[in-house]
Amino acid sequence: MDDASPPSRRLYIKTYGCQMNVYDSERMADVLRPLGYGLTDRPEGADLVVLNTCHIRERATEKVFSELGKLKAMKAETGGRMKIAVAGCVAQAEGAEIMRRQPAVDLVVGPQAYHQLPELIARAHRSDGEVLSADFAPEAKFDSLGAGGAERQANGVTAFLTVQEGCDKFCSFCVVPYTRGPEFSRPAAAILAEARALAEQGVREVTLLGQNVNAYASEIGGLADLCRALAAIPGLDRLRYTTSHPRDMDDALIAAHADLEALMPYLHLPVQAGSDRILRAMNRGHDAKTYLALVDRIRNARPDLALSGDFIVGFPGETEADFQATLDLVEAVNYASAFTFKYSRRPGTPAASLPGQVDEAVKAERLERLNTLIERQRQAFNAVQVGKTLQVLIDRKGRHKGQIGGRSPYLQAVHLDGPERLIGQIVPVKIAALGPNALSGNLDILEPA
Ligand code: SAH
Ligand code: SF4
Ligand code: F3S
Repeated sequence: MDDASPPSRRLYIKTYGCQMNVYDSERMADVLRPLGYGLTDRPEGADLVVLNTCHIRERATEKVFSELGKLKAMKAETGGRMKIAVAGCVAQAEGAEIMRRQPAVDLVVGPQAYHQLPELIARAHRSDGEVLSADFAPEAKFDSLGAGGAERQANGVTAFLTVQEGCDKFCSFCVVPYTRGPEFSRPAAAILAEARALAEQGVREVTLLGQNVNAYASEIGGLADLCRALAAIPGLDRLRYTTSHPRDMDDALIAAHADLEALMPYLHLPVQAGSDRILRAMNRGHDAKTYLALVDRIRNARPDLALSGDFIVGFPGETEADFQATLDLVEAVNYASAFTFKYSRRPGTPAASLPGQVDEAVKAERLERLNTLIERQRQAFNAVQVGKTLQVLIDRKGRHKGQIGGRSPYLQAVHLDGPERLIGQIVPVKIAALGPNALSGNLDILEPA
């Protein structure tokens, strides 16, 4: 390792999509650092621009092509010195199409091939050889992205850590099984090494990532076993995981929520819809009753657990009665927060060719009704915190002098007055008020009697 020499090349990475892309972008920066690339926060003047893309909905994909249009002009001004790479899920799904539609793109690299970046960049500079890699090789990816994890560089007091990648569920609307490949779990030894490296650099909270994170299975056992091993690492006081599938929520993981203090009482458990007919057409592999029963079991294990979810409105064939069933399910669960989407028709997925595609205006109207309900639940959940004392992980300076900010166990943003030296500490904060996007409160540290 040669960290002493200053970066000689400028690297700009723009990240779209989910948290796994955020993680992957950091790993790409790690791979390129030894080649002399240092991160910059704007594309102007960069030697290499990487767009780490998302394919999940039509809008996400369109953004990439419009951004490439802008970069093309910028590249021309540099006389072609600036290299442009497209990474991520659009690269995987439409790599050849990107190279054809936008000749300014120098290389295309799918999510499983980031370890090949140095070689692809070299080829792009020499203008010889293949500059498109869409291999599915998760093992090689993780092995070569930083010696199995131990070289991971932290950036703050919280961190993402990918433990599982890919999806075998094939929900009929979703591109992820095609862009991220089959389910793959990293060996626990590599994950623990990466987590230890993070903890040694001051990270207190780790969010374990996977497209189906609770399908995790390795030499250590399942996700519950991995969480227990991670919780034993000194300094790692908080664990979260996302995204879990209701079908993979096993008894061991539910039990971990009951007795593992490090596991935060906030769970993202997408259900997508409340109508059994639609759930079947979505190929979710569970009905509404099973989901509600699962929520009960988790809440019995951990009564203060709060839930968030993902919902799709306007799936092909969704009637008003089906949509009503989604509203009923949301009423029954009472979410702390949720992400809601209009169904987007994705090429190559089974649902794209289903009859009964729903009108955009109907989708928009349903989305608004669902959002109203969820926003009411979110506000109610936040309002309940006022007057309570929450353990807040301080992770940043506030916007105003003397102010600091952090996250509650429920991932709520919390502002308070306090010294900067508390960054990295978990402190009790008495919640005083509810703002539009954050809670505010005061340090609640008892004076010794
Ligand atoms: N299990 C994945 C889910 C990725 S997609 C993960 O690791 O996060 C995130 C959410 O996008 C899904 O839960 C779903 O609600 C939504 N989504 C996926 N495909 C969609 C489509 N074609 N149209 C609208 N929303 C979609
Ligand atoms: Fe997509 Fe379904 Fe897999 Fe989630 S579980 S990534 S929604 S196919
Ligand atoms: Fe998007 Fe790929 Fe993540 S499609 S949501 S970047 S897995």
